[in-house]
Amino acid sequence: MLVSLEGFDPKGRKRIQDGNIDITVLKQDENYFAFNSKCPHKGGPLFLCKPLSGERIMCPSHHIVFNLRDGEVLENPLPESMGDYALCPNLKIYEVVLDQNGLNIIV
Ligand code: FES
Repeated sequence: MLVSLEGFDPKGRKRIQDGNIDITVLKQDENYFAFNSKCPHKGGPLFLCKPLSGERIMCPSHHIVFNLRDGEVLENPLPESMGDYALCPNLKIYEVVLDQNGLNIIV
């Protein structure tokens, strides 16, 4: 999937929706990352994620922090007392290849 280098918001985010595809691309420094727009926890809006230093993002819903390289959950502030509700799988990450035509997201 080819994506233009234009149209990123001031926080470096760009949401791509095409059929069943809903991916957010984040530009951080000179790197681009692509990930599912819906949080793997409870479907929160990761297209509105808070970019954090160190190639991380925070979900705006419950503030779980994900690694942008591999989608690993790095911080989960939900208490264990919440049981299964506190559990969160890793985030789906897509490979991004930058070339002269734009960003090629491997879906
Ligand atoms: S929906 Fe994203 S942290 Fe809960």
